[in-house]
Amino acid sequence: MKHFLSLLNTNNQSLPTTSDWQSPSCLLKADLPESGLDSNDLYTLGERTFQNGEVAFLTVAGGLGTRIGFDGPKGLFPVTPVMGKVLFQVFAEKLRALKRRYGRTFHWLIMTGKETDKATREAFRKHAWYDEAYLHIFKQGTLPAFSTDKQPLLNEDGSIVCLPDGHGGVFKALKQADLLSLLETKGIQTLSYFQVDNPLVRLDDALFLGAHLHQKSEFSTKVVAKVHPEERVGLFVQDGDRLRLVEYSEFPPSLQSARNKDGSLKYRWGNTAIHLLSTDFVQACANRELPYHVCRKKIKAWDPISKTVQTIEGLKLEHFIFDALPQANNPLLWEVAHEEEFSPVKNATGNDTPETCRRDQINRWLRWLKAADPTWLKEQLKENPEPTVEISPLFADNKDDFLSAWKRLPEKPKTLDGCCL
Ligand code: UTP
Repeated sequence: MKHFLSLLNTNNQSLPTTSDWQSPSCLLKADLPESGLDSNDLYTLGERTFQNGEVAFLTVAGGLGTRIGFDGPKGLFPVTPVMGKVLFQVFAEKLRALKRRYGRTFHWLIMTGKETDKATREAFRKHAWYDEAYLHIFKQGTLPAFSTDKQPLLNEDGSIVCLPDGHGGVFKALKQADLLSLLETKGIQTLSYFQVDNPLVRLDDALFLGAHLHQKSEFSTKVVAKVHPEERVGLFVQDGDRLRLVEYSEFPPSLQSARNKDGSLKYRWGNTAIHLLSTDFVQACANRELPYHVCRKKIKAWDPISKTVQTIEGLKLEHFIFDALPQANNPLLWEVAHEEEFSPVKNATGNDTPETCRRDQINRWLRWLKAADPTWLKEQLKENPEPTVEISPLFADNKDDFLSAWKRLPEKPKTLDGCCL
């Protein structure tokens, strides 16, 4: 306990001196020809890797989701605009679409915490969203929680409140659940990592996978360009020959708005938390220590005065997965369009809410429809300029697939509003 108390007093000593920071260079899809890389070759490499089943998927779903205020695992949060499918079902459909494309089932690893494990397992059992033989639900570790005046928080029975140890706990949790050896036995070299809160995540991106493998990257990340200095997103910085990611809450405000000579933001590559990780690197990380971060959260604890369990503002210790990044060789940043791939459900109000996510899903599908059939869409929008639509990943999960699937439709939907494909 002494060790943890000293950590609370020295929050995140791992942060480097900012005077050495530079903006990282980032590979853009559009720059591939100039960089001498052929996108067709990269795509083929990615496809071959999918075909060979050398990729597994990893969802971190052990968080408490306190900001959204949903009573249950966030993976069971209903997110799609018409059908109200929950996040886990959306991801399962994406992976089933991938199975259809490559003729093989992919291993799916889901990290839960002690609060979310039981309900997650029960939901998968009840709904049979994914082939059980390929589904690996495993629990992460915990760390003690404290009051804001740094006293250990207690449960009703007098034990210390212990909470999930952050998404960085994934490395040790994978090892503990013996899943690293499973990956090795199955010849899986890449883990496709994503968080539980982003239904726009693409799991079928052969080009990104090809680029990751071609660069021999140990840790690749999809990034989105930050437009306004105050956007609350983790930012990548070049720190000597190492790349690191700094959480927005820990990013020095004076650097948030630093600009290059051409007026662009100096630190503008925002983290989507969509990563490709080499399994060798994951193995190495499982034997390393990551730094601790102190996070303020709403925490349930025993209140000795009222003699009841109360939700209070407290302190929680966490490891962050991206603290492993400076150790990674050849890291790759890969820019994607924010509106196509990133709309997490984080907060009850403000940014990244269920409502913004719903709108982003609909707008993405309307953009695909516009590309597929602009005249039909225009007519439909005359009748209802703000339609609610939904397209299952099993129909299409990216624009190119949508264009082909739309062409194959024997007849077009009668009306757009409320339409589900
Ligand atoms: P968030 O940073 O959104 O945290 O997690 P959270 O705990 O889920 O939500 P709040 O802050 O209490 O509202 C980002 C991702 O990391 C996972 C979450 O499930 C989410 O997919 N995560 C977070 C874990 O798996 N374990 C943790 O201990 C923390």
